[in-house]
Amino acid sequence: MKKKLIVGNWKMNGSLAANEALVAALKQGLAAQAADGGCGVAVAVPAPYLAQVQALVADSRIALASQDVSQHAAGAYTGETSAQMLRDFGVRYTLVGHSERRQYHGETDAVVAAKAQAALAAGITPIVCVGETLQEREAGETQAVVKRQLAAVVHAVGHCVTELVVAYEPVWAIGTGRTASPEQAQEVHAVLRAQLAAATTQAEGIALLYGGSMNAANAAQLLAQPDIDGGLVGGAALKAADFLQIIAAAN
Ligand code: G3P
Repeated sequence: MKKKLIVGNWKMNGSLAANEALVAALKQGLAAQAADGGCGVAVAVPAPYLAQVQALVADSRIALASQDVSQHAAGAYTGETSAQMLRDFGVRYTLVGHSERRQYHGETDAVVAAKAQAALAAGITPIVCVGETLQEREAGETQAVVKRQLAAVVHAVGHCVTELVVAYEPVWAIGTGRTASPEQAQEVHAVLRAQLAAATTQAEGIALLYGGSMNAANAAQLLAQPDIDGGLVGGAALKAADFLQIIAAAN
């Protein structure tokens, strides 16, 4: 069976002390879970804490992820972090196109696609986030929106499409406590899978994560859907006990 992947997105939360306590609790909890055959686990941490968390997770099965990456390789881009810089800190995954980046930082489909390309060029796996707003869902535009968002990336990365991870995060479910039902999520995941299958014969191997108020209580049902290969977890990833229960549901 395909291994699932659970990624915690800490967003703009944490401190040196809080990160240390959270990772220590996660490591302790993971050590008590099945030693092998478990799902993949990663944490996407704020950029200033990459070095700290790199050291903290070094002796564990937790991989390091970034929440964003520059589309540019180097140069006069104040405030940006290049994929190569992320590599220096052992970053394995980076989110691209999270709805908070699209919404608050004006990231377009083209920018998201360029970021995915930059990550791949540095050997980092992009976790491409797609998702519709409530207004778009109510207008019956869900499938068109996620397909448009994914198409931009698929077109840009060409044969590297098999190296992507895709996360479906309905914007109306993020941080609201209002989760997509397993059926609603599966319906969109199946559409994304079919879109990937049109680009590669290996679409089954591409991890499709669900994100949006995933928690200890609803994770198992969501993860049981045939096209849900893991989770991208926000709020519940900040509480070790909750995140560990989600990981246990994915093991
Ligand atoms: O990237 C994770 C995300 O946006 C979901 O956040 O807090 O609804 O789990 P949350």
